[in-house]
Amino acid sequence: MSLLPSEFVRCVHLSKKARSGDSEISILSDVSLSIKRGETVAILGASGSGKTTLLTLLGGLDIPTTGEIYLNGQQLNVLNEEQRAAIRAQNIGFIFQSFQLLPTLTALENVMLPFEIQYISHKIAKAEATEWLKQVGLGKRLHHYPSQLSGGEQQRVGIARAFITRPKIILADEMTGNLDTHTGQLVMDVMFSLNQSHLTTLVLVTHDEHLASKCQSRYMLSEGILQTC
Ligand SMILES: Nc1ncnc2c1ncn2[C@@H]1O[C@H](COP(=O)(O)OP(=O)(O)OP(=O)(O)O)[C@@H](O)[C@H]1O
Ligand SMILES: [Mg+2]
Repeated sequence: MSLLPSEFVRCVHLSKKARSGDSEISILSDVSLSIKRGETVAILGASGSGKTTLLTLLGGLDIPTTGEIYLNGQQLNVLNEEQRAAIRAQNIGFIFQSFQLLPTLTALENVMLPFEIQYISHKIAKAEATEWLKQVGLGKRLHHYPSQLSGGEQQRVGIARAFITRPKIILADEMTGNLDTHTGQLVMDVMFSLNQSHLTTLVLVTHDEHLASKCQSRYMLSEGILQTC
């Protein structure tokens, strides 16, 4: 099976099962999904419905029990961890609910990290990270440590870190879940603005229907079953 030219992601009959003691539980059942290049997609669903699990599979952080996943023309589920890591580095930016910044690094160093891991020169990494932090409104917070930043500022560092590699797709898991409504709104405005100017494909996991309404496509996960909504 191959992807259509306009298609960036395709999931075909995905299932994910996990062992729990003696029994096997089904986390995702027969999930099929197609995402076009540049499309913005929201995935809604109650706690425990399988949202993070699906995002983990889309990002190649794990492989499905059965089914196929294609991302940018490559079939992720047949690749080993090292091969999937290379695809992640080339294609994907992750944004997490809990920001996942390294506490011992400054905002600038946190944003430089994806470049440092790819052995891109320190000078280029520093210049690019500075530019991305300016773009998210943190030009005056470059040398602050995460503990010296507000929640909204920490998530804007997280956004800059996700975008610095110019990923083709952003996978965001409840990225405003730890923020108050007003701050969450500001952070999402920054994210959508960068997303639009860089034509990035976006998959947004959220409990927030208002946020989901800003995406072009919406899906609901319910006990591991995905439906459009
Ligand atoms: N490795 C695992 N082993 C066993 N069960 C798991 C595993 N990973 C996830 N689960 C279970 O699968 C279900 C879906 O988990 P998942 O984290 O995807 O939910 P979620 O929709 O992201 O929930 P939340 O909104 O609370 O973040 C949960 O019931 C969870 O307990
Ligand atoms: Mg989750």
